[in-house]
Amino acid sequence: MYDFKIAAGDSETLYRDLASALQGLVAGEPDGIANMANAAALIWETLPDLNWAGFYRNVGGELVLGPFQGRPACIRIKFGEGVCGAAAATKQVQRVDDVHAFPGHIACDSASNSELVVPIVRDGELIAVLDLDSPKHARFTAEDEAGCVKLGEILAKVL
Ligand code: SME
Repeated sequence: MYDFKIAAGDSETLYRDLASALQGLVAGEPDGIANMANAAALIWETLPDLNWAGFYRNVGGELVLGPFQGRPACIRIKFGEGVCGAAAATKQVQRVDDVHAFPGHIACDSASNSELVVPIVRDGELIAVLDLDSPKHARFTAEDEAGCVKLGEILAKVL
């Protein structure tokens, strides 16, 4: 077991430590599923107020559930559907303060109220999306977005 002991401090320090722990975890490991699994576990135990943290992979132009922490979730999501599908279709981060106000939101877990979805792109191709859900409204700040984009950049090289 790895024990990173990332202290809850200011957001910049938190994400710097998280990025460095993730970099260490994936270094030299070419298996994308293993790397997504460890990334989901690391994010889950580090970031507060999450009820779901994990990945959907781009499998032939459809999002398919990947490694995650949280409750069992919907398996397949079409590009353009819900928050994850919007991130996949546009390759743009989706930071949603109130998922119930998002057109087409897919309620995998009724406890979710806000969501952050980061597309993971390599050489212009969407590989996966990182999806974080929270029971708190407006849980994700611009700092969370910037920090998670960095995590996505680390992962883009090893998925
Ligand atoms: N709420 C997401 C679906 C995935 S789950 O939250 C794990 C969406 O609308 O894309």
